[in-house]
Amino acid sequence: MNLAVIGHPIAHSLSPQLHEQWLRASGLFGRYEAIDAMETDLPRLFEAMQEGEWDGFNVTIPYKEAVVRYVDELDEAAKMAGAVNTVYKRDGRLVGTNTDGAGLVQALMPFTDWSGNVLVIGAGGAARGIVQALPTRQVSIVNRTVERAKELANTFGVTYTTFDEVDISRYDVIIQTTSVGMDERSTPLSLEGLRQNTVVCDIIYRPLVTPMLQEAKRRGARIVTGVAMFVGQGALSFEKWTGVKPDETIGKKLIEGLLE
Ligand code: ATR
Repeated sequence: MNLAVIGHPIAHSLSPQLHEQWLRASGLFGRYEAIDAMETDLPRLFEAMQEGEWDGFNVTIPYKEAVVRYVDELDEAAKMAGAVNTVYKRDGRLVGTNTDGAGLVQALMPFTDWSGNVLVIGAGGAARGIVQALPTRQVSIVNRTVERAKELANTFGVTYTTFDEVDISRYDVIIQTTSVGMDERSTPLSLEGLRQNTVVCDIIYRPLVTPMLQEAKRRGARIVTGVAMFVGQGALSFEKWTGVKPDETIGKKLIEGLLE
């Protein structure tokens, strides 16, 4: 298996360690490289995959939208998300898919049966990928720019609210998708009124426990760090390339160890 993640910058990507551990654990020969690419490198990389040099790619910031035009087809998840994070081969054709949203949903399965209300914070590309994958339409989107929340909500037949009006106590699952929290200080909204059995999840994993997750923990809620989504999306990609379901628990342990 010749696998790689393509992005820029890519030096801090944890995907090579995650996938190489899974390759070893599955008894598969192969490698997983990190390719720091310029946009002009993309056509050559996809040609090389077509010619058999690569079996699969992950695609990360800033190329998730740009690579749409280099694959032969997009599956439903990639179409709905408008972005590709995984490329695999099927009958000689390059297929673009998106495992980000499904990876998060899978990671949250042990915590919720999705019968309650879900709040998604943010309305950017990451939020779009997640909303399309959620197994419920009892979803509300809250975003700084209300117009974007409204647009995303309308696209997927869910509701939206505003930071001024949002009632935190109504939600069973809260998913934070913005970049707020990476600076280790800010949280996108107050968790005043948070219920103890609510599951609060942040897709950021640097820092491992964001300020919002710290506050949620103080208030007695159950927290899920961004490592869960990172490992979840990776596991679904690995399965697309190899047909093998990797062990997410060892993946999570490895990544948490590297981040601590
Ligand atoms: P991504 O693909 O990572 O989601 P994006 O499409 O640029 O990136 O979206 C960024 C998200 O973070 C948006 O929801 C954005 O809110 P706006 O739509 O109002 O811009 C949100 N965001 C970024 N910085 C923010 C901040 N300082 N406060 C609140 N929300 C912020």
